[in-house]
Formats: sequence, structure tokens, C-alpha cells
Amino acid sequence: MGGFFKSSIGRKVAMALSAFFLMFFLVQHLSINILSVFNPDLFNEVSHFMGTNPLVQFLLQPVLIFGVVFHFVMGFILELKNNTARKVSYVKTNGASNSTWMSRNMIYSGIAILAFIILHFIDFWFPEINTKFINGDWSGTMEGVEGFRYHEELTHKFHSHTRTIAYVIAFVFLALHLLHGFTSAFQSMGGTAGRKKTLQNIGKAYSIIIPIGFIFVALYHHLKYVLE
Ligand code: HEM
Repeated sequence: MGGFFKSSIGRKVAMALSAFFLMFFLVQHLSINILSVFNPDLFNEVSHFMGTNPLVQFLLQPVLIFGVVFHFVMGFILELKNNTARKVSYVKTNGASNSTWMSRNMIYSGIAILAFIILHFIDFWFPEINTKFINGDWSGTMEGVEGFRYHEELTHKFHSHTRTIAYVIAFVFLALHLLHGFTSAFQSMGGTAGRKKTLQNIGKAYSIIIPIGFIFVALYHHLKYVLE
């Protein structure tokens, strides 16, 4: 196993596998968040299920957190190794001919997303862990709110202009990161020439639709608050 991660190709495959896992998470995360717009009651029900189900809390959630950390750490290692392996820079990396701007800047869009995740955890994840694991309150309710509290908490976060703008900027970086990442992951997993075009198109569609979905959720809640 150590040998696998020490080889450049091993690291790239590990990077691609963790990326696919996280992309799968993004689909489910967006699906649930979209409910907060179209069906608040269902959003509350699903959030309560996810937030209290032992399988989700004690198995899926730790696996997800591990996946996020693994992808970041591995990304930094890949970047460092690539830079040291290339003591003399490529002659032709300055044109669009053999590398796109984004492919050389995965690390920057990655850092922007890392900054977002930290902000996002402070906004949602830490308070949730605090309520359940520190205060021991698994009821999903709060004083002054009828029914479950999740929809109220989510919409409250998007009252702030600054937070909404920061989130939207982060989702644009997410789109850029996904656009290159998707193509690159397929390359590492050895996509064949014939299927490659279709897969790349699916990748492009995914990379644009998912971040637009998140932007829609953030802007919807913000505008609803501002215009009301
Ligand atoms: C409008 C956009 C978004 C909203 C409203 C939103 C909302 C939330 C909420 C309410 C939670 C807390 C779940 C809990 O643990 O109880 C959460 C957790 C989390 N979010 Fe988001 N999220 C958004 C976008 C994103 C994006 C784009 C990413 C990744 C790039 C992301 C990654 C995560 C992760 C990793 C967690 C912790 C895992 C978990 O326990 O669910 N989120 N989000």
C-alpha cells in the first residue's frame, strides 16, 4: 500500500478515486439543499433523518470527512512532488497548447475551496456537532420554531450579504476546479479515446450544473430575505 501511494500514478489514482467519491457527495448534498427551496417540510424531515441516523452519523459522516481531508492532503502532496520533480520548468507550459490555465492552478482553486469548507464548517457543521454531541440535544427542535429547526437555521445564514457573496464566489471556484478535475480524473483512470469525448461532456455538464445549483440555493434564500 505504501508503495502504491509512493508512485506518481498511485497518487493520481487515489486522487481521482477520492474526487469521484466527493463528486457523488456533492450530488446528494445539492439534492437535499434544493429541497430547502421547493419543499421546506421535506427538507426538515430529510435533514432530521440524516442528522440522527446512526449509520449516517457514525459511518458515512466519518468516511466523508476522511475523504475530504484525504483529497486535500493528497492534492498538496501531488503539487509539491510535481514542483520538485520538475526542477527545470517545462519549455512549453506557457501556452494553451499543452496545458490549460486551470490545470496549472488546481492548487489555487483547491485552496479557495478549502477556505470555503472552513467557513462552511463554522457556519453549519460545528454548531450541529455542538448541539448533538456536546449538548446531547438530538430532538432537531429549537425554542420559538415550530417543527424542526433545520430550515430556519439554513435560511438564517443567508441573511448576510457578505456570507452569500463569499459562498457564490466559492461556488465559481468549485466549478473551475471541477471542470479541470473531471477531465484529469478520467485521464488517471484511463478513459479510452472513443468514450472520452462523451465522458468529458458529462464532466463539463456536471461541473457547471452542480455549482449553479448551489448558487441558486444561496441566492434564492438571500433574495427572499432581502425582498420580503
Ligand atoms: C448553498 C450551498 C450549501 C448549503 C446551503 C449547505 C448546507 C450545509 C448544511 C446545513 C450542512 C450541515 C449538515 C450537518 O452536518 O448537519 C452542511 C455540511 C457540509 N457541507 Fe454544505 N452546503 C452548501 C454547499 C456545500 C458545498 C459546495 C460543499 C463542498 C464543496 C459542501 C460541503 C459540506 C460538507 C463536507 C459538510 C459536512 C458533512 C456533513 O456532515 O453533512 N457544502 N452543508
